[in-house]
This record gives sequence, structure tokens and C-alpha cells, in this order.
Amino acid sequence: MQIKSKLPNSGISIFAKMTALANQHGAINLAQGFPDFPSSVRLIENVYAAMRRGFNQYAPMPGVLSLRERIAEKVSTIYGSNYSPDSEITITAGATQAIYTAITAIIREGEEVIIFEPAYDSYAPAIRLSGGVPVPVALHAPDYSIDWEMVKKNVSQRTRMILINTPHNPTGAVLSKQDIIQLEKIVEGKDIFILSDEVYEHIIFDNKRHESILYYPNLREKSIIVYSFGKTYHNTGWKIGYVLAPEYITKEFRSVHQFEVFSVNTPIQHALAEFMQDPNEYLHVHTFYENKRNLFNNLLKKSRFKIKPASGTYFQLADYSEISNLPDMAFAEELCIQHKVAAIPLSPFYRQGSNEKILRFCFAKQDETLQKAAEILCRI
Ligand SMILES: Cc1ncc(COP(=O)(O)O)c(C=O)c1O
Repeated sequence: MQIKSKLPNSGISIFAKMTALANQHGAINLAQGFPDFPSSVRLIENVYAAMRRGFNQYAPMPGVLSLRERIAEKVSTIYGSNYSPDSEITITAGATQAIYTAITAIIREGEEVIIFEPAYDSYAPAIRLSGGVPVPVALHAPDYSIDWEMVKKNVSQRTRMILINTPHNPTGAVLSKQDIIQLEKIVEGKDIFILSDEVYEHIIFDNKRHESILYYPNLREKSIIVYSFGKTYHNTGWKIGYVLAPEYITKEFRSVHQFEVFSVNTPIQHALAEFMQDPNEYLHVHTFYENKRNLFNNLLKKSRFKIKPASGTYFQLADYSEISNLPDMAFAEELCIQHKVAAIPLSPFYRQGSNEKILRFCFAKQDETLQKAAEILCRI
């Protein structure tokens, strides 16, 4: 028997590839986006306590109520936006599932979704699996800002969704108020949903405000907004996130969610509900990462890499055009095999590839890891 692949062109991801290469060659792994320092001991103890208290069976399908309540409070306090824990907030198995479920619930055969490239790797496959068509709009170095005229040109009768991501992986760029106003104008009066990936909401630097869709009431009724606890609390392996959407969208979202995962890890939800009572645990994450970004970038000042500091996320792009003429994939391999530092090339994030000589480094690492990596990068 044979399977006609639904995703014939998706091989192993660039993250898995570079991590395998880093392991094989004993390289410092600044490729994959995860912290190499521990999550809070208090949070881990909360999980253990929840297990001991007997929270070991299925959670309610939309998520543990106390967690949804804490999320509603947080969103109201920070963004001044009100979402009902009963009918507008759903806990998911991370943001990737949330994105997949949102697309599955909304997108039908032949409908178009505008995405911005370089794009997080799950967007286009999720769209294709629903029979939809990803319509990429390219962002370019050094600013990676959105050309809204280009977006307008790509809106058609079949456009059903625009997928935005701020702060943006892999570029570290963030959207401004002006960007969201442009977006508002484009979708006004049209049946176009916004899927807003805001997993790095708390990792934004230089006193910038995270321009969440939540600040824009006109967009609320057509938006699904996705978050991930993994990014905020340094536990990407727990795979827990949540989705905010008005009731009529949440109803459809949950109708798919219940058959995809039904519900999400119970003790972790209880633990997070308790942990969220202390806003300091998420309100200072930006300072923590800004210090790491500054440390890494200051160390790289002596190198031949050209750096424009990231405005958000825990990724820093670096231009290596003064060092090598190799395409980014080949240069990333050389860097990993010969110099023992693993990074991610940017071209796999573009459908058509890219000729830009840029690599992505993850700085969610212990200071000593960043120092060791920078020392090597300065010698190249
Ligand atoms: C932009 C973006 N969206 C979504 C995700 C996925 O988040 P999660 O691990 O919660 O599925 C990531 C993780 O790297 C990401 O960078």
C-alpha cells in the first residue's frame, strides 16, 4: 500500500536538522529556540502538589476553570480587554496546536491565508492540511517590516485569514501601532479573520509596547489570539498555551479542539493557575531577556557579524556577509561542523528560499553559554 503524502515537501524541520548536527559535532546549540536554564522551582513544586492533591484525571475540555479565570484577569489588567473564561478562553496543548486548531476550524478548501515570510514553520502546513492556500508576503532585512501595499495587493475574494506574529520569530521584529492600524483598514468590512500569534508577548525590549490585537476593539470580533506559557515561564516542553476569541469563534474552535486533544494536562493547568497569581513572574521576563540580548550583542561587537538588535523574542539575527559568500544553509553547516556553534539559516523560512546572508541565534541560554559561543564567533 502507498500513502499519497498530504505534505510531500515537508522533510525534517531545520530545527531538528541543526540540533542533530550540533549534537553530532558537540557544538554549542544556539539553533533551536529553548532555554538551557531551569523553569521556576516553585512552579515545578506546584505541579507536584497538584498531582498529590489528586488532579490526575481529564481536565474539562476548554481547560481548568481557575486557569481560565486567571488568564481573564491578566488580559483585563494588562490589555484592558475582557474575555469570558466560560465562552472565550480555551487552554491548548501549546500554541502550535492552537494555531492548527484555529486554521482547521475556519479554513476551507481553496481559501487563502496571508502569512508573512520568514514564517514560523507550522503555519503553511496547517493551512495546506485544511485545503487552504498560504499566500506569503515577504519581509526583508534589515527591518523586516510589513509592506502593507503588498498585503493589499495580495488580498483577493478568497482571502479568509491574515496570520500575524509579533514579536516575530525568526526576525525579532515587532509590529507598531501604525502596522495594526493598517491591518485594521485592510480587513474593515471584509470577511477576513486575524490569527494573531503573540507567544512572545512578554519578550519585548527597549521600552516598546507589545502591540497586541487586544488593544484594538475593532479587531476583537474577528480575531483569534494565541499564547504559550512555554515561552514566558521557560518550560517549552510542557506544551501549554491558550487562545482568546469571541464566543462565536470559540464555539467553532472548541468543536475541533475536543476531537484533536479533548483536554490538556490537568496538574500543570492547576499549577499554572496558582503561579499566575504572581504577575511578577511574567512582568519581568522582558528585562531578563533584554540583559541576555545585550550581553550577546555586546560580545559580538568585536566580531565580523553585523547585528541589528532584536526588538523582541529570544532570537538575534546576524549578517555574516563580511565573513563568507556561502549560502546561509552551507554557512550554518560550516559554522556548526568547523567552529562548533549551531545557528539557524533563514532561507528555510521562505517558500522561495532567500539569498540573504543571515543566521538566527537563540540567546535564551545561560550567560556562560552565550560567552563561550561569542568567543568562538569573534574568532571567525
Ligand atoms: C512564533 C511561534 N509561534 C508558535 C510557537 C509554538 O509554541 P508552542 O511551543 O507553545 O507550541 C513558537 C515556538 O517556537 C513560535 O516561535
